[in-house]
Amino acid sequence: AKVRHYEFNVEYFYKKIDCVEQFVLGINRQFPGPTIRAEVGDTLEIAVTNKLSTEGTAIHWHGIRMYGTPWADGTVSITQCAINPGETFIYKFKVDQAGTFYYHGHHGLQRTAGLYGSLIVDLPKGKKEPFHYDGEFNLLLSDWWHKSAQEQDVGLLFKFVEFRWVWEPQSHKMVVVEADGHYVQPFTVDNLDIYSGESYSVLVTTNQNPNQNYWLSVAHRDANISTTQALTLLNYKNISPSALPSFPPPVPPIWYDYEERKVFTKKVLALSGHTPQPPKNSQRRIVLLPNQDLIDGYLRWGVNGISLSHQTTPYLGSVKFNLKSAFDWKSPLDHYVPYDYDITVPPVNHTLTMGSRIYQLQFNQVVDVIVQNTNSFVPNISSFHPWHLHGHHFWVLGHADGKFKDGDEKLFNLKNPPLKNTVVTHPYGWTAIRFRADNPGVWSFHCHMEPHFHTGMGVVFAEGVEHVKGIPQQALACGLTGKLLMNKKRSS
Ligand code: C2O
Ligand code: CU
Repeated sequence: AKVRHYEFNVEYFYKKIDCVEQFVLGINRQFPGPTIRAEVGDTLEIAVTNKLSTEGTAIHWHGIRMYGTPWADGTVSITQCAINPGETFIYKFKVDQAGTFYYHGHHGLQRTAGLYGSLIVDLPKGKKEPFHYDGEFNLLLSDWWHKSAQEQDVGLLFKFVEFRWVWEPQSHKMVVVEADGHYVQPFTVDNLDIYSGESYSVLVTTNQNPNQNYWLSVAHRDANISTTQALTLLNYKNISPSALPSFPPPVPPIWYDYEERKVFTKKVLALSGHTPQPPKNSQRRIVLLPNQDLIDGYLRWGVNGISLSHQTTPYLGSVKFNLKSAFDWKSPLDHYVPYDYDITVPPVNHTLTMGSRIYQLQFNQVVDVIVQNTNSFVPNISSFHPWHLHGHHFWVLGHADGKFKDGDEKLFNLKNPPLKNTVVTHPYGWTAIRFRADNPGVWSFHCHMEPHFHTGMGVVFAEGVEHVKGIPQQALACGLTGKLLMNKKRSS
C-alpha cells in the first residue's frame, strides 16, 4: 500500500462546457476535477487549497467510509469547518474498498457549480474481479445548468437531478456487475437507471461492426421536462465522429414509467460469496418521513418535522467536546407524527420547523432506517429521492409501495441484499436499509439532490464519538470549537 499525494486548487474559471462560455468551479483549472486512482489499502493525502476569494469550501469523498478519520469526510458544518479562502486543508484517509467512487464539494451548491471528479479504487495487483473484461472506461454523469449555482441558491426552486442511461437498444446490452463498489448478481439491461450519488459497472461486449459509430445516450426522467438527451459516440476503433451512426439515437424510455424503474431497483442483489450478509435482527428502527413545506414562506424540505439547518460549529467537534449550546441536543423522533400521516397528499398540519437535532446511535448497534416517501408540497407529485449515507455502506433490505407498517419487516431480504451507499426511494413508497453503527464519527444521511439537502432534507447520526481521536485543529477552527481552541491557547 502506498501514500498518494495530490494537490487540489479549488477555483473558478471560464469554460465552454456545452458550447456556452460560463464560469465553472473546478480543480487545478480542470473540469471535472482530476481523476484519483488508487489501490485498496492505499492512503490518499490530498491538500485542498481554497483559491476562491469569498467562499469557503470542503470536499467529500463519496463512498469512502473514513474509518478512523471521520474529520476527513468533508462535510461542512457536520465534520469540519469550511476551508476559508487562502487556506489549505489536508485530507488524509485510507481507501479500504475497491470500486468506482467520486468526490464532490459539500458546501452550499458547490457540486452544482462543478466541483467534482472521479475516484477509482482498484483491486491490489494480482487480484481478479469475479468477471472478465478487456478494457474499461469511466463515465461521470452530471447535470449542467446555464444559470449559476449562486442564482440557483437565491432562487432555489428547481428539482430533477436524475438520469437514465440509454444504450443503443438493438445492439448493445449491458451486464450490470457492480454497484457502489460491491459486486452484484449480474443482470442484463438495455437501459441503466442511475440516480445522483450512485455508481455502477457494466460490461459491454464489442461484438458489433467495428467500422461504425454507436450512440450512447443519457436522459433525465424524473418529470416531464424538456431537457434534451445528452449524446455521445462509442466506437471500437478510431472512427471520425462525423461518421454518424446509420440509425437514429435511442429514444429515452417514457418518464412516467415508474414500474419499470422499480423492477430495475429490485434486480440489484448481492453476488453471493462476495458481500457479507446483514445481521439477522436490528436493535433500533428509525422511520424517517421526509416532506416539503413552507417555513415562514420559504419552501424547505424536512425529515420527521425538522428541516436540518446548518450549524456554525460542526457536529463532530460539538459532540466530541460536549458543547451544550452548539446545537439542540434533544433527540429527534424515531418515527413520524401523526402515525396516520396521509402520504398521498401534500402536508396538512404544517408542523415543519428548522432544527439541529441529531440521532445519537449506540456504538455498534444494528440500526434499520426506513425512508417513507410522501407527496411533496404540490398535489399529485412524489419524487424520486436518492438517499446517501456517509461513513457506511448499508444493506438495502427492501422497497415497496405505500406506507411501511409493523410487520412489513417480513418483506425484508436478509439473504442477498446489496451493500450500497446511496439508494433511491420511489414515489409514494418506502425503502429500508440496515447498518451497524460501528464507525466512530458523525455522519450525514441525506437526499443526494443537492438543492434538497441544501434546503434541509437530511439527518445526522452520531456514533462512538468518544472513540474519535486526533481531530486536526483546522477542522475545529470555527464556531464554538474555534473559541475553545483559542481559550486553550491563551491559558497555556
Ligand atoms: Cu455525495 Cu453528502 O454526499
Ligand atoms: Cu430529494
